[in-house]
Amino acid sequence: MSQKLVLVLNGPNLNLLGQREPGIYGSATLDDIGAALTERGEALGVTVESRQSNHEGALVDWLHEAQSRGAQAVILNAGAYTHTSVALLDAIRAIDVPVIEVHLSNPHAREAFRHTSWIAPAAKGTIAGFGADSYLLALEAAARL
Ligand code: DQA
Repeated sequence: MSQKLVLVLNGPNLNLLGQREPGIYGSATLDDIGAALTERGEALGVTVESRQSNHEGALVDWLHEAQSRGAQAVILNAGAYTHTSVALLDAIRAIDVPVIEVHLSNPHAREAFRHTSWIAPAAKGTIAGFGADSYLLALEAAARL
């Protein structure tokens, strides 16, 4: 039997992790996080595929792909689209795959405009504020679903 698939989708500006506001987002790069997820996925018996796009529509397409490939879960850091995107909310609602919302920082401890997540109502759950560990905690949760 083939392994369970977990898609890890990263939104805008997350390609700059490591150099982007390290006091908020930490020093790990997205490649570092992807490698840690792949390694933990091997231990948990799930295949992890990590991607990043600065374009909202690409994230929508990948959510649809998670459905067509029968993914076990999606781990989604939608970046700033978290606070703006009805399209991502609708895409999450359109698929049967559970989506775990993650954030490196704790948006609720930051500016007021980050306190609203448009995607949270459709997410299975949210993990935020643990830096790169937010992703690893989400993967543990995804593997148990
Ligand atoms: C973020 C939080 C968002 O508010 C912000 O726009 C990001 C990153 C995080 O991981 O902490 O780009 O999603």
